Amino acid sequence: MRYNFDKPIERENTNCLKYDSRELIFKNSDVLPMWIADMDIAIPDFIIDAVKQRANHPVYGYSFFSEQFYSNFIDWMYRQHGIKIEKEWICFSPGVVPAINMLVLTFSQPNDKIIIQPPVYPPFFSAISDHHRIISENPLVCNGTKYIMDYEDLKAKVDSNTRMIILCNPHNPVGRAWKKEELEQMLAVCEKNNITIISDEIHSDLICRSHRHTSMLSLTDKAVACFSPSKTFNLAGMSTSYIVIPDKEMREKYLATVNGLHIAYGNLFGSVATETAYGKGKDWYLQVWKYLQDNMDYVIDFCKKNIPKIKILRPEATYLLWLDCRNITTSAEELQEIFVQRLHLGLNNGIEFGAVGEGFMRMNVACPRQTLEFAMQRLSLLNEL
Ligand SMILES: Cc1ncc(COP(=O)(O)O)c(C=O)c1O
Repeated sequence: MRYNFDKPIERENTNCLKYDSRELIFKNSDVLPMWIADMDIAIPDFIIDAVKQRANHPVYGYSFFSEQFYSNFIDWMYRQHGIKIEKEWICFSPGVVPAINMLVLTFSQPNDKIIIQPPVYPPFFSAISDHHRIISENPLVCNGTKYIMDYEDLKAKVDSNTRMIILCNPHNPVGRAWKKEELEQMLAVCEKNNITIISDEIHSDLICRSHRHTSMLSLTDKAVACFSPSKTFNLAGMSTSYIVIPDKEMREKYLATVNGLHIAYGNLFGSVATETAYGKGKDWYLQVWKYLQDNMDYVIDFCKKNIPKIKILRPEATYLLWLDCRNITTSAEELQEIFVQRLHLGLNNGIEFGAVGEGFMRMNVACPRQTLEFAMQRLSLLNEL
């Protein structure tokens, strides 16, 4: 079946963060929102039907994940990434961000150092500082064609208080699909220094043509990897994700935290949606992902031809573009003013991803093409500044 992703979806007045909190976020409700990472694209009917069918049963009591849920996810991971996952390794979390917070609480103590690699997804910073751990930054370096890890800096940052690294694999916002050799070099430093690796792999299905995902789980059985159907199938509102922990001792420690907080059962509709997505969603996923990659090509080509002030490195993964706007201004504040007040575009300001993100903007292109065309018309106004 061919899906039509061109159809605009009205999301306003659905308590939708992306649209309905524009005044709060941008102090301006008249911006085209291209920020938070969900899609302005309808999920397939078979997921809606499965949720409706369950909703028709009149009791929404306590529930657990079905065998089908586990086997569909395990099959998906094997077919997509060649990773063999055992059922008992899979632990529930209401989200990847809550999981990262729980993993920080489980595997570190107050005042321990935890490494992150900015520019990086903002909740990585707060997952560390909110629990009174110390952020240790190992910034990525741009070599002109792509962002790479700085291993010398990583080694220099490690000391006896360093307990953990939170890896973004693939990397949001710079769109790197880390290669096996790159991850192996990082792993060697961590193994030598007894550092726990938390690998956030939420974007792992969104790998661009000619690249591939390397899960940390394929390199070591001592890492923890976080997955979710929320990016792949646009199911963020279902609050259902799973954390894969092959090592029994580590898993028991994590489960003690989750069970201690009494959040292990999950959401009835999230489990139905997830099970259905992994079971029946391959064709939809292949089509939507091609559409989003074409969207990225469209924006990159458009900017190259028409807005040379903006530079974009072609991402290897994610539907997020990292716009280098430093030819316009290097001030995050001024950039925000220009985008929100003059262009009426609501992107994520690069500074949210760490100080090294100043002068950049992150654009989410998971929307119908005509929305993007409209956004490009607005972005072209930069040429008149
Ligand atoms: C790297 C990364 N991790 C986690 C999340 C969100 O995870 P969740 O909604 O499951 O908490 C996002 C969403 O954009 C993300 O980009």
